[in-house]
Amino acid sequence: MRKPLVVGNWKMNGLRATNRPLLDSVREGVEAGVAAEVAVCPPFVYLADAASALQGSAVSWGAQNLSQHEAGAYTGEVAPSMLRDLGCRFVIVGHSERRTLYGETDSLVAEKVIAAQGAELTPILCVGESLEEREQDVTEQVVKRQLDAVLERIGVSALSKAVIAYEPIWAIGTGRTATPEQAQEVHGLIRSHVAAQSSSVAEELLILYGGSVKGNNATQLLSMPDIDGGLIGGASLNAEEFLTICQAAG
Ligand code: G3P
Repeated sequence: MRKPLVVGNWKMNGLRATNRPLLDSVREGVEAGVAAEVAVCPPFVYLADAASALQGSAVSWGAQNLSQHEAGAYTGEVAPSMLRDLGCRFVIVGHSERRTLYGETDSLVAEKVIAAQGAELTPILCVGESLEEREQDVTEQVVKRQLDAVLERIGVSALSKAVIAYEPIWAIGTGRTATPEQAQEVHGLIRSHVAAQSSSVAEELLILYGGSVKGNNATQLLSMPDIDGGLIGGASLNAEEFLTICQAAG
């Protein structure tokens, strides 16, 4: 039985003055009665604050990216061991904004998944198509290419220590959410693609949906059979709305 997971991706948002009340509200709300597993991913610079606010609570925390290298002469980068040192449980890898804005390739994403697992972090591997790719009806090919770039490097067994997030690029930050049926279709093909190599890994694999998940659409999306939770952007910056989504996850 897969336990639902809801992860808040704060992206490049937040300041200490507002972060602490947000973290406290999320912690209190989750502990007051949320069945799903919940994590928040603030910017690197606020991870230590998140760790001190959430330590010992039901809410875990993670990072939005990581270096594929271990500690060394990589100015500006953050090593996997540093995230582990800060108590991170998750790390988002291959988010479409990193792929499109910072040129992260499928190969680099695979390297980062390997680095994350090497530091005993759980990578949340993001896959998803652009609007043009959807309109060209090549969504399946795109998502399978992104998945295979990682599977070929780590093998299907290692996927049992990872989470997949399907984030259609055209739904991210646009308010244009995939319909539950559209999302389920891609989640189903992701699970089938993994099942072709291991039915047991596929059955246990958490596949999150991300892309304009809000309090008013979460229940319909998260009730679909192959949607195991959400990767939440904008709505994760509002405690009440984020908690509504967490409760909808079951
Ligand atoms: O990683 C989650 C993010 O890409 C989704 O953003 O604002 O559409 O929920 P948003």
